[in-house]
Amino acid sequence: MASVNARLAGLAILALLAGASAAAHARAPRACELRVAHAGTEFFARSMAVLASCQERIGRGALPAGTECTAEPAVGKQRAALAARLVHRARQACTDAAVTSLAFGGHCAGTTSVASLAGCLQANHEAEAETLVGVADAARGALSAPAERCQAEASRRTRGFAVERLRLLGLCKRRPPHRLPAGADCDAEPRTAKRIAALRARAVRAIGARCVGATVAGARFGPPCAAPADGESLAGCLLAAADVAGEDVLMAEYRNEGFCGDSGDVVERRIRRLLGRMPLAEKIAQMHGTSVAPIGGVYRTPGNDRLGIPGLGMIDGPRGVSVIAGHATAFPVAAARGATWDTALEERVGEAIGTEARAKGATVILAPVLNILRHPRWGRAQETYGEDTVHLGSMGVGFIRGAQRHVVASAKHLAANSIENTRFEVDVSMDERTLREVYLPHFRVAVEQAHAGSIMAAYNKLNGQHCAENVHLLHDILKGEWGFRGFVESDWVLGVRSTAPSANAGLDIEMPSAVFYGAKLADAVAAGDVSEATVDAGVRRILRTTLCFRLDSEPPVPDPSLVESPAHLDLAREVARQGIVLLKNEHGALPLDRSRIRSLAVVGALAAVANLGDRGSSNVSPSAAVTPLDGIRAQAGDVTVTHLPATPLSANDQAVVAAADAALVVAGLTADDEGEGQITPGDRKTLALPGDQDTLVASVAALNPRTVVVLEGGSAITMPWVDQVAAILMAWYPGQEGGNAIADVLFGAINPSGKLPVTFPRSELDLPEFVDDRLAVTYGYYHGYRHLDREGIEPLFPFGFGLSYTTFGYSNLTIVPSTLSPEGLLRVTADVTNTGGAPGDEIAQLYVSYPGSRVDRAVKDLKAFGRVHLEPGETRTVEFELRAADLAFYDVAAGAWEVEPIAYAVRVGPSSRDLPLVGTFAVAATALR
Ligand code: BGC
Repeated sequence: MASVNARLAGLAILALLAGASAAAHARAPRACELRVAHAGTEFFARSMAVLASCQERIGRGALPAGTECTAEPAVGKQRAALAARLVHRARQACTDAAVTSLAFGGHCAGTTSVASLAGCLQANHEAEAETLVGVADAARGALSAPAERCQAEASRRTRGFAVERLRLLGLCKRRPPHRLPAGADCDAEPRTAKRIAALRARAVRAIGARCVGATVAGARFGPPCAAPADGESLAGCLLAAADVAGEDVLMAEYRNEGFCGDSGDVVERRIRRLLGRMPLAEKIAQMHGTSVAPIGGVYRTPGNDRLGIPGLGMIDGPRGVSVIAGHATAFPVAAARGATWDTALEERVGEAIGTEARAKGATVILAPVLNILRHPRWGRAQETYGEDTVHLGSMGVGFIRGAQRHVVASAKHLAANSIENTRFEVDVSMDERTLREVYLPHFRVAVEQAHAGSIMAAYNKLNGQHCAENVHLLHDILKGEWGFRGFVESDWVLGVRSTAPSANAGLDIEMPSAVFYGAKLADAVAAGDVSEATVDAGVRRILRTTLCFRLDSEPPVPDPSLVESPAHLDLAREVARQGIVLLKNEHGALPLDRSRIRSLAVVGALAAVANLGDRGSSNVSPSAAVTPLDGIRAQAGDVTVTHLPATPLSANDQAVVAAADAALVVAGLTADDEGEGQITPGDRKTLALPGDQDTLVASVAALNPRTVVVLEGGSAITMPWVDQVAAILMAWYPGQEGGNAIADVLFGAINPSGKLPVTFPRSELDLPEFVDDRLAVTYGYYHGYRHLDREGIEPLFPFGFGLSYTTFGYSNLTIVPSTLSPEGLLRVTADVTNTGGAPGDEIAQLYVSYPGSRVDRAVKDLKAFGRVHLEPGETRTVEFELRAADLAFYDVAAGAWEVEPIAYAVRVGPSSRDLPLVGTFAVAATALR
């Protein structure tokens, strides 16, 4: 009996174990991912069906016209049941560990538990379903029978297309075929793409057949499909909306594949095979550059011919391809591009610079610079986008996405690199919260959203350790928490200070040549100070980047015709125009009216200079460049333009200025005043204009009431003469087309729309101290507008400020929902109206405040922004999206991000100091991300 019992017990244990292993298997990350995708897509489809059926009931009169479907009790009940099923299925398939290791993407990025993933999927998919039904089936009312049929068909087909497309992409994602090129997503897979194209064509035909002639106008579609010209354009618009919703659904349902796209598994297998065939020496050879001097205009790492692995070819930089590779398009500097607040435009700049880099034989572009502009005296201020982390990160994401269509982008310099004169040695100290909230979030989005293939470690120390050997920065945060999958390289020459500490911290490549790696790394491995597994991990990253970017199968082909192409020059001019900020314009001084102004005195030597920026590593040499004077003369028509370059003004010059209908002073900084440390002038000594330019501006203003000042430089400039001049333009270093762009704005060919990405203080004393002569500095939580807000100091021109030749009004703030779940998505809208007489673009900004927070927080933080074009009298709705996670602060004691369950204030308006729309919302419960 005893033995029977023992046998039974044994069987029971075996059965339990079998069950447990089956459960463990089912909860393995991949199984979790696939089941989540399945359940998520089904949830999305049914959520749309519930909403569409409510609309349909309104259409046939079963519910009153104007019914808000999301507020309908029956709809609420059905949606709750669907959500419960989704949560149940996610719980069945996943564990918290699986969710964490998968690192879901899109709006579910950062979820680390089944509960937070399920909550996020629910919020995301419901919002997508509402949006898509809102477009395809906008509020019904009494419709004619044909319009009703058109509406029903369009709604059904749009939803059907969205769901079937998701299914086809899901099939491919489950088993990415071998022919899917490394780095590409399933929508590029030929068979899938063909099937989706056929699906789309069928839907277009069906919608087109039902929605003909006047019926189209009679039906009710939501923006952007509200006023279709005909059935076909309606179908195109609806299916494009379905694509967008589908993308958001897909991104949230699958793991964040990084730059390797859907064939990551295929690439990982290749990496394993290659690594297995590399002796240690060959691996170590991959981990350093070949020489201090560039070869063929490019810094190189060695390839491995035996295994068919090409080396990497690296080139600067942030405003175009470096002068060391010859001529290239000189774009406006990043500060100017930051002033565009236009992430789509920045993506085009990234794409153009990436194209030119590849056409020069490079495979890695040493850009973008993602260092916070902590203080405008930083010598490399011009190379970064500005002082705010959300703005900086968004612009950087744009650049990286564009550039990485052609080359790997190396975002630099991680982290807190914002002083030049002491850059090699300075130890920058800050507390953990400041690091996490102020100095790192922009790098995080570069990794998590843009999938930067490379990160360059900064020269400086951070909290006592050089960045290239900073365990916390590289190992714990970048590679650990953010899941960065590319390679970390050092900054040049003095970027590495040790062998084992650097390798063990996670520095994968020493550039530009082996000083501490190479033979010393081999010795360190032999001595047991660095394990071969650590070397493998580094090489794996280099190989992954090489293979994912297809550098082995599609090497760059030099092609001079792609460099300085007409399209790139046009882009350089477009960007320069958009980046110019109109700071002051009294009595309609600008634009200059050629019918009224017959003579123009152009003052200042800089007017005749193509002032392109620093001559350090970001130096670019275009084959030609337009000076402001060239640009002005080209557009002056019959206006007499006299250039007066000499200072001080002679008596004769003074007479010319006084007699002219308008005077224009071009003043500013040059590469002799600011730039990269040690190789150029480094940090600025002051925020004032160099030399006697302040006196010059004041003397011109005293002679001519219509004095316009055009400023050039990399960041904020103080202006003691601000009240004496009629108009001021900030043109930054505007690139090779800058002279044309300045003239475009001066004569009104375009309406300026740039806004400051950096606070212009009245005095340097209004900013935190800038220390460039000590080897230890401490950075606090506050700088820029957040510092001035806290101290209650009025800026000269605030962050986000910029005028236009027209005026804009803000109205109708909506915030949905009023209480946000911790995983939810907040949608804020605001109406912007062009209240003036000229067409123009406005950049609307959204800031959040945290009254009642239990920790010290900024008076307000920028959280989102959007650009909108408006004809005179036109009103458009600008939409912003916020995740609850965007409101988090870093709880140092808990070592986690916390979203407080408090009331938050939202403010929307044209600048950080002019936010007329105010509203509130709450977050439901505390959550960690
Ligand atoms: C700069 C980097 C640059 C590198 C290569 C360094 O001095 O700090 O930004 O990419 O040189 O030129």
